[in-house]
Amino acid sequence: MHTHEVFFDETGVHVTTIGLPRETARGEARVALVPLEVAALRKLGHDVIFEPGAGTSSGFSDEDYAARGATSAPRAEVFDAQVVVCVRAPGGAGPATDGELAELRPGLVLVGMSNPLGNPTTAKQVAERGVTSFALELVPRITRAQAMDVLSSQAVIAGYKSVLVAAERSDKIFPMLSTAAGTLRPTKVLVVGVGVAGLSAIATARRLGAVVQAYDVRPEAREQVESVGGKFVELSLDTSGASGGGGYAAAMGEDFYRRQQELLTSTVASNDIVITTAQVPGRRAPVIVTAAMVSAMRPGSIVIDVAAAQGGNCELTRPDESVEVDGVTIYGPTNLPATVPAHASQLYAKNVGNFLGLVLGPHGLVLDLDDPIVTSSLVSQGGTVVHPAVQEALGVPTAGPQQPAFVTTGS
Ligand code: NAI
Repeated sequence: MHTHEVFFDETGVHVTTIGLPRETARGEARVALVPLEVAALRKLGHDVIFEPGAGTSSGFSDEDYAARGATSAPRAEVFDAQVVVCVRAPGGAGPATDGELAELRPGLVLVGMSNPLGNPTTAKQVAERGVTSFALELVPRITRAQAMDVLSSQAVIAGYKSVLVAAERSDKIFPMLSTAAGTLRPTKVLVVGVGVAGLSAIATARRLGAVVQAYDVRPEAREQVESVGGKFVELSLDTSGASGGGGYAAAMGEDFYRRQQELLTSTVASNDIVITTAQVPGRRAPVIVTAAMVSAMRPGSIVIDVAAAQGGNCELTRPDESVEVDGVTIYGPTNLPATVPAHASQLYAKNVGNFLGLVLGPHGLVLDLDDPIVTSSLVSQGGTVVHPAVQEALGVPTAGPQQPAFVTTGS
């Protein structure tokens, strides 16, 4: 066993204080802890202090937090807590500003989405401030970590909301309608990429009455598509090697993607709405819908590119902008969960609470460096970046997590 305990004070008997700041990133309406989760943390013996207004944009008032046992305090005091939890930690919404970095004191434990692989320089700056930082989006997709998997909990919501956004902008209604004035045929929806977001999109479109087709490179996705009422699109492509394990796709060669585009053209053209959610971990999103494919769609059709923040699955996507080409709308919203912040925060907060349950012991931080959940998400410790992939992104030799100077016990 390779566990480090980091006491928050020398007595070793201490209540951990968890700080909940208000999110400052533009458009970020979620909050990292909802009042219900505060109550759960209080039950475990932790204190929670929150910045006034932290939950307002998610529909939770200061009184709601106070009623569950949290105490309000000015922002600076919240950052004085031993552990600070957030949705967007520095780096999570672009490179950190000096102001954001100045809030971080040495010894702080920071838990949130910080996109350290996308913003490794910020990860290094955070490390240099002596912060122990965990990036929740790096929690591995393994069974034991499901309850802490923020990417999955938020992708379910993104998939759902992508369909509603499409429906709202569509010039057709989704369900079949038989009226005295004639029959309306159901809207046809194609979902490309059938992971967490894609499956949620299929199920939502089906509930609204659409006819849904779905496509994924991983052959095993067929069964999942059918289980939520979609029809799997089969392309004559060699997909051996397309599964990268853990439900993720592996990267394929350029020829594969070109052939895929050719074969998908007629399917894309025959649908009213195309929702794209394809990703290959650690890479730019694959381009699946080209400009030529968009031109072949019926005017009035819609492409919702859920992968917009990763570069987009459609060649024409511009993040958070609506683009119209040949009468087809291409829209790539990058933060759909924040458009339904009450529920998105509820799931996110549960993930955070479960994660804290893993790394917080009765006396302080407990780092089990044999636990892949810990080693995958621990970005900085003891003044340096310890995550191998982030080190690699920074161009420094990889060493892996090390015992920091302030660790008091180890076994
Ligand atoms: P996932 O990894 O579970 O699913 C992605 C799927 O794409 C996999 O099933 C994979 O096999 C498939 N895929 C990869 N390459 C493909 C190709 N060339 N053709 C067809 N399928 C392909 O990912 P998850 O969690 O569902 O997320 C999907 C995307 O949604 C990600 O880019 C993620 O960042 C994004 N996302 C966007 C949000 C927003 O607000 N816009 C919120 C949450 C997630």
